[in-house]
Amino acid sequence: MPIRRRDFVKLLAAGAALGPHALARAARGMGGGGGGASGALTVPVFQVPLPVPPELAPSGTVNGKPLYEIVQREADVEIIPGTTTRIWGYNGITPGPTLRVRRGDPVVVRQTNLLPDNVTTHLHGGHVPPQYDGHPVDYIVPGASKDYHYPNNQAGATLWYHDHTMDLTGPHVWMGLAGLYIIEEPGEDTLGLPSGPYEVPLVIQDRNFAADGSLVYTDNIMRGELGSVILVNGAPWPYLEVGTRKYRLRILNGSNARLYELALSNGAPFIQIGTDGGFLEQPVQRTRIRLAPAERVDVIVDFSAASVGDSVVLQNRAATGAVSQIMRFDVTRAEADIGSVPQFLYPVERLDPASATNTRTFVFSMGGGGGTPWAINGLPYDPNRIDARPILGSTEIWELVNRSGMFHPVHIHDIMWQIVDVNGRPPAPGEAGWKDTFYVPPRGRVRVIGRFDDYRSGPYVFHCHILEHEDHAMMAQFEVV
Ligand code: C2O
Ligand code: CU
Ligand code: CU
Repeated sequence: MPIRRRDFVKLLAAGAALGPHALARAARGMGGGGGGASGALTVPVFQVPLPVPPELAPSGTVNGKPLYEIVQREADVEIIPGTTTRIWGYNGITPGPTLRVRRGDPVVVRQTNLLPDNVTTHLHGGHVPPQYDGHPVDYIVPGASKDYHYPNNQAGATLWYHDHTMDLTGPHVWMGLAGLYIIEEPGEDTLGLPSGPYEVPLVIQDRNFAADGSLVYTDNIMRGELGSVILVNGAPWPYLEVGTRKYRLRILNGSNARLYELALSNGAPFIQIGTDGGFLEQPVQRTRIRLAPAERVDVIVDFSAASVGDSVVLQNRAATGAVSQIMRFDVTRAEADIGSVPQFLYPVERLDPASATNTRTFVFSMGGGGGTPWAINGLPYDPNRIDARPILGSTEIWELVNRSGMFHPVHIHDIMWQIVDVNGRPPAPGEAGWKDTFYVPPRGRVRVIGRFDDYRSGPYVFHCHILEHEDHAMMAQFEVV
């Protein structure tokens, strides 16, 4: 079912929803400007308070499981003060509402599509049966609904849900279709980590806006779509007032293509407690954290040594200019800092490379034939081709080889993995936990190990998470047999 030609038409349709301004800019291939401005728009820096996406409450039950209902629809919201932006939002907001569930308690999420395009919703990092994975062609057509059953039989972790429509994931996510899905470990509260208002999710995304506030999307196939405005939880360069104590930050790089190298302007370390797939065994102190698109990191930041009146900027050291700043923490009150970060969090089973019964190599490069710019093992994505058939219950090593000059954040659906080595070297401690997305350096090689537990069949996809690379065929799929 090659639907490549339809893409162009559909992309224009998506473009039309962005408004005439956006289309004109897209036609000229323009992004936004820099220096706190996007096009003719001036965007204030550290003037907007950090919003926190609301947590969604269940509206009923399905077969005894809590039912969460989400309607995907267009909405006009104020992102840049004084302007209106048409978004596509889960329940009309972006990021969408946060779902907070417990390990071992299955739930049902009913997604209703009131958008003018097909959608499919993927739970990124979720270990779910294939029919609920949000496969790229498992469409919810306009007007229809789908119930996604999520078993939550996996470690407590920061996951996210986002659109995954074949060839159109980039524009759909850019328009706003992304939200957080937090799985709590039973008994996690006994660790004494900062919680309630002191546990703050940060969804970092970059965007471009036209002068009228509308989103501009140009489908930059080569480098991926980069924005000149940094949003956190949907607000441009926001600030958060904090007390002199510890905070837990669950950070998601929800950007289409931008790489971040997180650092704090006062030089203070992050105490990392988790990776994509859950807790590290022991906390790791880091002053810099590289976060590629779709990666998550769970960290403690300690403001107890700061004084009231101090400000600490969360920076992106991988960038210069306006986008090298992300948000600001303003220390506005003295507060007792109770509790410490435990030296031991949760045991992490180490997968032994000797237990792997198969090794597969996947080469990420340009040129998929048929005119597609990106490829895996020389082939463009084909939803009718199965690229790998691992055996249920078996452990495999996948070797991810980058034969291009730019990084690719490779994401594999279904199961969590551990990094064996990066260019032959063992992973740094902060990368040694469970992961589903791997930064594969330019011309580099990453080996990962995983066990195909629980769910037979498929297909499950794996792909580059630079969404414009994914949309332009840097995706493949496997079936567990
Ligand atoms: Cu975050 Cu296949 O996606
Ligand atoms: Cu995923
Ligand atoms: Cu890529």
